[in-house]
Amino acid sequence: MARSAEEFDSWYADRVESPVADELVRRVLGLPPDLQSTSLLGGAGLDEVVAALGLRAGRVLVDLACGRGGFGFEIARRSGCRVVGIDFSAVAIDHARRRARMLELTDRTDFRVGELTATGLGTASADAVLVVDSLQFAEPLPEALRECRRILRPGGRVVVTCWEALDADDGRLSPRLRQLDLGRQLPRAGFVAVEVVDRPAWRLAEQTLWQEALAVEAGDDPAVRSMQDEAQRVLATFDGLRRVLATARAPHSAQASPP
Ligand SMILES: C[S@@+](CC[C@H](N)C(=O)[O-])C[C@H]1O[C@@H](n2cnc3c(N)ncnc32)[C@H](O)[C@@H]1O
Repeated sequence: MARSAEEFDSWYADRVESPVADELVRRVLGLPPDLQSTSLLGGAGLDEVVAALGLRAGRVLVDLACGRGGFGFEIARRSGCRVVGIDFSAVAIDHARRRARMLELTDRTDFRVGELTATGLGTASADAVLVVDSLQFAEPLPEALRECRRILRPGGRVVVTCWEALDADDGRLSPRLRQLDLGRQLPRAGFVAVEVVDRPAWRLAEQTLWQEALAVEAGDDPAVRSMQDEAQRVLATFDGLRRVLATARAPHSAQASPP
């Protein structure tokens, strides 16, 4: 998968033209019919994420590395919360803004170009932070977790979905995936009540998605071809990663600030 903002821009430009890739993801992962995702979080995972965020009307969710905003829109609809979406791809943010108008959610959503490590948001301005399948792109990763902690109000929750290596020395895996160890990294960033749980059923759904992607007739659809390239890479080392859901909260006490 691409890494720079420019690479993600062109990846998103391809994806906009490809209903096939979006439909495949929605169908196999069991997502709501109009949700636009570029991650591997499925419908059951989304339900769990919504419960873990514990949001209600008027609260502020920051969807960090939000892509086209799909999960944020769905959570705004379900909970009545406000959503601030941040992503470094200007193409994705532009798309999310257009989508907000289409879904008539402009009054409760705000999409801005920003970095995982530098959101540009105010300290303690969020009630919850969500990072779906994107934390591995942060450079450096501890700084992104400190940024999550900084923008959260005391007691606010962070919810992260991602992968972790079963063996951090597994040279088949990319260094950015091998660096993830949220059970250690979240407390170091100043979070408390840290829980990191395995989600093997999500991983199985992901495997089905990659297998089905390989069976699609790609033709000249660049988004499907890109999915197929990724499927080959991911399936070759599939046994090396576990799928995790991490939850934590910012301490209530003002003394417990990040180290
Ligand atoms: C796998 S996609 C997930 C998007 C979205 N969370 C979803 O679930 O549909 C990864 C996202 O991370 C964004 N991203 C990668 N590196 C980033 C960075 N350093 N700062 C902000 N966004 C970043 C990409 O532009 C892309 O939208």
